Amino acid sequence: MSILVCGGAGYIGSHTVYKLIEQGNDVIIVDNLQSGHLKAVNKNAKFYKGDIRDSKFLEKVFYENKIESVLHFAANSLVGESMVKPLLYFNNNVYGMQILLETMVKFNIKNIVFSSTAAVYGEPKRIPIVESDDTNPTNTYGETKLTMEKMMKWCNKAYGINFVALRYFNVAGALEDGSIGEDHHPETHLIPLILQVPLKKREFITVFGTDYPTADGTCIRDYIHVLDLADAHIKAVKYLENGNESNIFNLGNGIGFSVKEMIDAAKEVTKKDIKVVLGEKRAGDPAQLVASSEKARKILEWSPKYTNIKEIVKDAWTWHETHPNGFED
Ligand code: UFG
Repeated sequence: MSILVCGGAGYIGSHTVYKLIEQGNDVIIVDNLQSGHLKAVNKNAKFYKGDIRDSKFLEKVFYENKIESVLHFAANSLVGESMVKPLLYFNNNVYGMQILLETMVKFNIKNIVFSSTAAVYGEPKRIPIVESDDTNPTNTYGETKLTMEKMMKWCNKAYGINFVALRYFNVAGALEDGSIGEDHHPETHLIPLILQVPLKKREFITVFGTDYPTADGTCIRDYIHVLDLADAHIKAVKYLENGNESNIFNLGNGIGFSVKEMIDAAKEVTKKDIKVVLGEKRAGDPAQLVASSEKARKILEWSPKYTNIKEIVKDAWTWHETHPNGFED
């Protein structure tokens, strides 16, 4: 039996595929390579290039393989872009999920592990955030992911499809040997942007807002290593394959770091000075986002191994230093 990974050529998908294969699983990858990279496709997986919204294509994949479980990473995921192109996000994310679920129903596939996000919560009422807290997304991206969670909930009731939704906080890092890593176009995430300064690809990093109600005035986020996420996905697949009920889990380290602390960590790791410009707030940024991952620790028996922020930044640096132009190198 195989595991189907939709979006297996993307950042989190490719790291999860690497770990699945390392642990002896048979993996099928589906990716349209819109934001994924051919060079990130694991050579030991069977690869189908195509779009999950193309039901004929997806049915062919299910027909040709004995699939037991699905890992679903295939989605658009840029918050800013989602606000100016909401229909693109509804089409790719929500409609993509509809076709995927319809195909799962048709082929009687019962398990799906889904890439969700802390963006489903919106502005948090308390820190750390627990899974039962209110969900009021403040951007289209978070709204599409919340809708996708709800689609799975109703398909669970109607068709017995079991799901685990994993709500990630700020994903960072790369495979330790630097062979795969983060490569977004355009790049909007803090750590890769900071590291572009010592790589001489940008002159300075702008700090978005310095008067937040935090100790140093900059935003606090919970950074989680991509390999810890990969580990959680594999545990979630086993959880479903062992017959456990559908569930939702936060995934974070449980420790918050400010933008200034992240820049300091990058200075230490790269041993280079990093020019900083203090800028205006970015619209829609909550002051603090920190996860409670107690539920995942208890039920999935997952715990993050990369709890030192410098270790996370070091792995990101190994990747970016050796691939300054991402997978184009
Ligand atoms: N930041 C800067 N300067 C930059 C870029 C980012 O100061 O040049 C700050 C942001 O304001 C924020 C922090 O760095 O406070 C982290 O920003 P990211 O863009 O790296 O990440 P976000 O917290 O905005 O978003 C992440 C994921 C989203 C997910 C969201 C959940 O990237 O996919 O967490 O809230 F939706």
